[in-house]
Amino acid sequence: MNTPCLPEAATPADEPAIETLLDQAFGLSRRTKTSYRLREGNTAAEGLSMVVREPGLGIVGTISYWPLRIGADGTKALLLGPIAIHPERQNRGIGMALMRTTLAKAAEQGHALIVLVGDAPYYARVGFMKVPDGQLLLPGPVDPKRLLFLELRAGALSAAKGLVLPENRYHAA
Ligand SMILES: CC(C)(COP(=O)(O)OP(=O)(O)OC[C@H]1O[C@@H](n2cnc3c(N)ncnc32)[C@H](O)[C@@H]1OP(=O)(O)O)[C@@H](O)C(=O)NCCC(=O)NCCS
Repeated sequence: MNTPCLPEAATPADEPAIETLLDQAFGLSRRTKTSYRLREGNTAAEGLSMVVREPGLGIVGTISYWPLRIGADGTKALLLGPIAIHPERQNRGIGMALMRTTLAKAAEQGHALIVLVGDAPYYARVGFMKVPDGQLLLPGPVDPKRLLFLELRAGALSAAKGLVLPENRYHAA
């Protein structure tokens, strides 16, 4: 049976089901990842947290984005993730639908740059590329092959150099 795949806005009431889905998809150690350092104390980007629901199973897909500041100039970017699909509903296009819908919304909102830590072959399908070695420094270890970016405004990566922080940790010099 094909899952109807219509991304909808996530609501605060969805939070427990989203956390359960993330534990299922990534395991309980997920919170030790460097990406989580960029979400701690941060607030998810407005209008970009979306879910896919299925009768009987509840939430089968989730995605969210987090505001970042990069380098001394505080260049703005968004962190994509986590994205996770219910183990019984993977490989049916839900992940792609969630990414395409939210990336289009992020572009409409005027966001210029998205970064993420993840599997390059998957995210390349929507245009993500590897960040040049040494351009971005994350607050924890990251395999450089998995540090990826997507420009929603041409040339946006060139302004982004240095330490990547969650928006709430950045203070202009
Ligand atoms: C990774 C994930 C988000 C993909 O979502 P999905 O809805 O299952 O994937 P889609 O249906 O949109 O896309 C499926 C295609 O992507 C490919 N794909 C899926 N995960 C991939 C990965 N980690 N690396 C490379 N390709 C991948 C599939 O092989 C499939 O290819 P095909 O179209 O040629 O058959 C989802 O499977 C998931 O939550 N996995 C568990 C968590 C995880 O591993 N996350 C790591 C992501 S960095």
